[in-house]
Amino acid sequence: MKIAILGAGNMGLSFSKSFLKYELIKPENLHLITRNESKFPKILEEFPKSKVSTFNNVTELDADLIIIAVKPQDFQYVSENFQFALKENQMVLSIMAGIKIEKIQKLLNHPLVVRAMPNSPTLLGMGITGYTSAKGISFSQLINIERLLNSTGRSVYLENEELLDAVTALSGSGPAYFYYIVDAMIKAGIEMGIEENLSKLFVQQTMLGAYHLINNSDKNLEELIQDVASKGGTTEAALKTFKENNFKEILKNGILNAEKRAKELNG
Ligand SMILES: NC(=O)c1ccc[n+]([C@@H]2O[C@H](COP(=O)([O-])OP(=O)(O)OC[C@H]3O[C@@H](n4cnc5c(N)ncnc54)[C@H](OP(=O)(O)O)[C@@H]3O)[C@@H](O)[C@H]2O)c1
Repeated sequence: MKIAILGAGNMGLSFSKSFLKYELIKPENLHLITRNESKFPKILEEFPKSKVSTFNNVTELDADLIIIAVKPQDFQYVSENFQFALKENQMVLSIMAGIKIEKIQKLLNHPLVVRAMPNSPTLLGMGITGYTSAKGISFSQLINIERLLNSTGRSVYLENEELLDAVTALSGSGPAYFYYIVDAMIKAGIEMGIEENLSKLFVQQTMLGAYHLINNSDKNLEELIQDVASKGGTTEAALKTFKENNFKEILKNGILNAEKRAKELNG
């Protein structure tokens, strides 16, 4: 299999690394396409055997799969300026937030489009990707794509494309919400007099341990909270402040707003 990555940025390169790590493709069958040459040295350092080109210089694309990993805002430009003709049997996999299959098909004038929404832990093979496909894509073509996606973590096929905007808001953007909360906790630790590096250690190990408890306990989230929050205790005091300030509602509204933004990106 030959793969071209259009937009060799964070995600494009994370995907590339995973494909090579699991030997799903040979390095020489990977073609990385950037906007400008300044990125070449860094990319070639990591992918010395792969082909690297700039967008404006690609006149022919020898690939079975083209992964579109530019920002959604750059896609219009890409679709109006690509110099290569897409061949009938080439598959397109978009990981762009928001842009719908129908729009991609129309702008590229190509029917075989799969749309996926990964997230940043892809970098460690610990991502989660929701994906859906255009009609007319065979089961075996889809399985080939799923195999690639699974090298970056787990993947879930969704019949309903609308849900991909929800996935974008939930797991695509999700790591940032987590970092935001971790950061607030670390800052609280510092404010209470704990050194920054120690505050980081306390918070990060707490998150890791709590994550494993979620995964390994028969208790639901409410019960797990109750286990920590004894009556009249310290946790209860914190939870009371969260409740009074509608913290849960605020978080939920933020996520719904991310979904709204994903829908706007389709234009
Ligand atoms: N980051 C995430 O956690 C995440 C999660 C899920 C989905 N996504 C989706 O993944 C896509 C990429 O995100 P990212 O975080 O990887 O962004 P990024 O690091 O900015 O990568 C995008 C890359 O595309 C390049 N590019 C722009 N126009 C191009 C062109 N005409 N030809 C070739 N390359 C071009 C950019 O080049 P320059 O360096 O010159 O700007 C950049 O390297 C987005 O559509 C995003 O919605 C991201």
